[in-house]
Amino acid sequence: MSAKRSKNSKKNYVLEIKNLSFAYKTDHGKYEVFKNVNINIKNNEFFCIIGPSGCGKTTLLNIIAGFEYPTEGVIYESGIEIKGVSHERALVFQQDAVFPWLTVYQNVEYGLKVRNVSLGIREKKVKQFIKMVGLTGFEKAYPRELSGGMKKRVDLARALANDPKILLMDEPFGSLDAMTKEKLQIKLIEIWESSKKTVIFVTHDLEEALFLGDRIAIMQHIRTGIPLKIIDVPFKRPRKFYLKEDPEFQSMRRRLIEEFKLIES
Ligand SMILES: Nc1ncnc2c1ncn2[C@@H]1O[C@H](COP(=O)(O)OP(=O)(O)O)[C@@H](O)[C@H]1O
Ligand SMILES: [Mg+2]
Repeated sequence: MSAKRSKNSKKNYVLEIKNLSFAYKTDHGKYEVFKNVNINIKNNEFFCIIGPSGCGKTTLLNIIAGFEYPTEGVIYESGIEIKGVSHERALVFQQDAVFPWLTVYQNVEYGLKVRNVSLGIREKKVKQFIKMVGLTGFEKAYPRELSGGMKKRVDLARALANDPKILLMDEPFGSLDAMTKEKLQIKLIEIWESSKKTVIFVTHDLEEALFLGDRIAIMQHIRTGIPLKIIDVPFKRPRKFYLKEDPEFQSMRRRLIEEFKLIES
């Protein structure tokens, strides 16, 4: 059967999530994760998703990536139904996905090689993305020689080298210390601003979502019965790290914690 097409494709949505429901099949029957999720994401948007552990954030990203299929509903990418994985949608996880037996250069080159990109283009792209993430000079290093933050940069370069339209990031900075996390947040904004990708960024850190996002989707556990809500982030760009200390930023953070009962870990 051919893929469905969206009726809204003129509207410049890079993703349309329509009436999406998902349940895992387990030994004890169906385990419902979420129901009737609707989100439209614009091209070049920085879209954050926040919610407590277990509410289905990773599951949602996996469906967008094409690793899982919706139980009900549909997702369109640029107007065409998603029916599997594609290099247009790259995932970056919390745990490093770098290959320990490959150098930084070889890690970034990996996806390009798999896609049979010619040597000349490969060299150009690998250099470009290593530079973009700030790892020039570390091409020959192995992951064991790198800090956690540097490994994350390799992950990011590897994802970017495939030139995805959409970058799906699942708590990518969740295991980093506060200072490294801040540096990478700023790096990511820089990359996003210059490459004009669409980013879908899952975090359980509200401050991170407010600092990075154009909009934030707030997910709750299905058992609460509270549907997903989307809020606009009002802060102008470019954003500097000291925005986090701004009274307006802090008051918005407090308001959201109270309104949505978000307890940060
Ligand atoms: N493969 C699976 N089979 C059954 N249940 C799962 C599976 N993966 C995740 N779950 C359950 O689905 C719910 C949502 O998981 P997940 O998407 O990982 O949440 P989050 O990323 O928000 O922490 C959780 O209750 C989790 O235990
Ligand atoms: Mg998760």
